[in-house]
Amino acid sequence: MTKRFYIEEAPAFEGQEVTIQGWVYNKRAAGKKLKFLILRDGTGIMQTILFLGECDPDAFNNFDQLTQESAVKVTGTLRAEPRSPGGYEMGVRSLEIVHIASEYPITKKEHGVEFLMENRHLWIRSQKQWAALRVRSQIIRAIHDFFHGEHFVQFDAPILTPSSCEGTSNLFATQYFDENAYLTQSGQLYGEVGAMAFGKIYTFGPTFRAEKSKTRKHLTEFWMIEPEVAFSDLSMTMDLGERFVTFVVNQILSRCENELTILERDTSELKSIVSPFERISYDEALKILEEKGLALPWGEDFGAPHETALGDHFGKPVWIHHFPSKIKAFYFKQSDEVFGSPVTGRAGKYALGCDLIAPFGYGEIIGGGQREEDEATLQNAIKAHDLDLSDYQWYLDLRKFGSVPHAGFGLGLERTVAWITRVEHVRETIPFPRMLQTLRP
Ligand code: 4AD
Ligand code: MG
Repeated sequence: MTKRFYIEEAPAFEGQEVTIQGWVYNKRAAGKKLKFLILRDGTGIMQTILFLGECDPDAFNNFDQLTQESAVKVTGTLRAEPRSPGGYEMGVRSLEIVHIASEYPITKKEHGVEFLMENRHLWIRSQKQWAALRVRSQIIRAIHDFFHGEHFVQFDAPILTPSSCEGTSNLFATQYFDENAYLTQSGQLYGEVGAMAFGKIYTFGPTFRAEKSKTRKHLTEFWMIEPEVAFSDLSMTMDLGERFVTFVVNQILSRCENELTILERDTSELKSIVSPFERISYDEALKILEEKGLALPWGEDFGAPHETALGDHFGKPVWIHHFPSKIKAFYFKQSDEVFGSPVTGRAGKYALGCDLIAPFGYGEIIGGGQREEDEATLQNAIKAHDLDLSDYQWYLDLRKFGSVPHAGFGLGLERTVAWITRVEHVRETIPFPRMLQTLRP
């Protein structure tokens, strides 16, 4: 049995006879003697050429029956052809039909996004969708490579949880036998447990938020990568996030050239993503926003227009740190200072948080910061957020047994894929997006 051939391996098979097992992407006839069959096999696209007299007699009859997305096995010889997509084409010897496809709903004409979303199970075969999901897969690979390269342990957090991490307003409730339970919003609290056991960990899993927002960056089910490091602080976690993001971008530049070309992504801009990233405090961000006519009272959270304006101002990912504590979750360590400079005249305290804002309206791709490590302070914060202390005893235990400064962050996978590929909407960065009005397919 010879090794199965895949289109992406074409350069290694030049001049050899191979069999493509795939689907009809397109076909056209150039007169009676010459036919072109464009195939996709999941790894790429290749033009195959049927020339009367050079291929089996029934190959021509079979060609005539083929509809878009019919499945075939096509055997022939590979040759370099710089004008063909992928740089290779096949001179066909035989064409075997595996399945004749019914009339395919997605044609070359323009379709509305609603129609495409209803046909998501088929839409992902289209070139741009295929390319974006291939980039997603390579981003996931790069993420694991990065953290293992830095000797992090992957540590899985549960999905069914009894309590909240990021506030109670967007929890998905479910029944856990006789108890109320929730789908996790973040693996962080469990990640902190892991950091105290393993020093540095990352979680990588699905997270859920019953977001009522219909924006191009909100999903109700998304994947988050959450590193957590013991003996770390706010600056160190921004350093880590920066190494992480630049590593991932570099890996994609070197591994996904073809996909980025299909997506018409301007790679020069990706190549400019290098450390150090700009770091500004929330207070400095307010000043920039005011100059842009987007003044915000101190203590208010950024909305989409503010994030977009800040992202565009820098044209690259930018860190914003030291947020008003009242807009951040209960677990943040708080401070009256911004990196050693006392700030006076403020009613509230700062949370030692850091958000990384991507350019071009993709918004916050990382949210994180330094955690409160003092037991009594944390207890008060839990109460102040109206959370039930008894749900957090195990979390408070971390502050009883060898408590240390620690920090981490969460990177949203889909927003990162959207920014790197520059697809318009996060729904195109996950195989089956879950959104306010989307539960199917
Ligand atoms: O800023 P968030 O809410 O932070 C946390 O959950 C922390 N517990 C993370 C940590 O410190 N370990 O979410 C982190 C990231 C955001 O920056 C964003 O990229 C993504 O998760 N995210 C979403 N992505 C898609 N759809 C949504 N509804 C998202 N909500 C957050
Ligand atoms: Mg956030």
